[in-house]
Amino acid sequence: MKIMSALTAFSLFTSSTHRASKTTTTSSTSNKNKNKKNSSSFVVCRSQKQQQQKTSASSEKSISLLAPSSSKNECIHQIAAKSKAPPPPAATGPTPTQIAAGVFAAAAIGVTARKAMKKKAKKIVIAGAPASGKGTQCELIVKKFGITHISAGDLLRAAVAQGTDDGLKAKEFMDRGDLVPDEVVVNMVKSRLNEPDCAGGWLLDGYPRSASQAEALSSYGIEPDLFLLLDVPDEELLERVVGRRLDPVTGQIYHLKFFPPPDETVAKRLTQRSDDTEEKAQNRLKVHHANVNAVLSKYKNIMKTIDGNRQKTTVFKEIEGLIKSM
Ligand code: AP5
Repeated sequence: MKIMSALTAFSLFTSSTHRASKTTTTSSTSNKNKNKKNSSSFVVCRSQKQQQQKTSASSEKSISLLAPSSSKNECIHQIAAKSKAPPPPAATGPTPTQIAAGVFAAAAIGVTARKAMKKKAKKIVIAGAPASGKGTQCELIVKKFGITHISAGDLLRAAVAQGTDDGLKAKEFMDRGDLVPDEVVVNMVKSRLNEPDCAGGWLLDGYPRSASQAEALSSYGIEPDLFLLLDVPDEELLERVVGRRLDPVTGQIYHLKFFPPPDETVAKRLTQRSDDTEEKAQNRLKVHHANVNAVLSKYKNIMKTIDGNRQKTTVFKEIEGLIKSM
C-alpha cells in the first residue's frame, strides 16, 4: 500500500515539473503559470508538515514518506532524490559557429544597405536668377523623387517670421533684395543639412550664392553631385516676379498670368512676397549677376544649364532625366 502511494506521489511530482520546465521558454504569462505550478509544489510540502501531525487518512500517508521540511527547495530535492528523476535539461543556445555565421550575415546586410543608401542619396543644388523657377521645379522634383528640399530663402523667411536674432539681422537685407551676410545664412543652411531627413539626399535651393558660401560648404565636407542652373532672360524674370503669388494654405506657387489659381476661394487667399516689386527685383537681379560666376566656376564639373524659358513641365522633363541618370 505504502509503495503504491509513493508511486502516486512520484507521478504527481514528475508531471508537475515536466509542465513547469516546458513553460520556461514561453512568455511572461507562462512564467506566471510556472510560478503557480511551483507554488503548488510548495503547498504540497506545507501540507506535508500538517499531515505529519495527523496520521489517519491514507492519502496523507503517501506524503509522509518524505521527511518534514519548511523549505520549498529542500522539499523538492527530497522528492527528486527519492524519485531519482533526471535533472531538467540545461537551456540550449546557439553554438559559437552559429553566432559567427549570424555576425557575418548581419555585417553583409549592413554593407549592402550602406551601398544602396550611397547609390540612392542624391545631393543636388538648384540655382538661377530670382524667379527663374527654382521653387516651381523643386516642387516637381520633390513630388517625383521625394528628396528633402531646403530653400535658403524659406529658411530666412521662417527666421524673420519667428523674430529670431538671425531673422532680425536678415530682414533688412532681404527687404532691399541684397544677400544676407554669411554669418547668418551659412550656419542656418549647414544645420539644416545635418538634420536626419537629409541623410538620404537633399535638394538645395538658392545656396550657395557667392564664392564664400560655396567655400563654406566645401569646408564642411558637403559636396553636391549635380548643380542645376536655370537660365531665363532678365526681361522674362521681371514679369514672373511681379505676377508671382503664394497660397499660404498649401504653399503652392502661382502666377497671375502663367499659372493662375484654380478658383475664387484660392485666389482670394493668395499673398505676395514683400520683395516681389519691380524695384526690388531689379536689385536682386543685379546682386545675382554680380555673384553667380564665382559660384558657377566652383561647380563647372557637375553643372548642367537648363533653358528655363519653356513650359514648366518641359523644363521638368529635362531635369527629371538628369536626376534619373545620377
Ligand atoms: P529666394 O526666396 O531664394 O528668392 P530668389 O532667389 O530671388 O528666387 P525666387 O524665390 O524669387 O524665385 P524662384 O526661382 O524660386 O522662382 P519661382 O519658382 O517662385 O531669396 C529671397 C531673398 O533671401 C534674397 O533676395 C536674399 O535677400 C535672401 N537670400 C536667399 N538665399 C540667400 C543666400 N544663399 N545668401 C544670402 N541671402 C540669401 O517662380 C517665380 C514665378 O514664375 C512664379 O510665379 C511661378 O509661377 C512662375 N514660373 C515658374 N516657372 C515658370 C515657367 N517655366 N514659365 C512661366 N512662369 C513660371
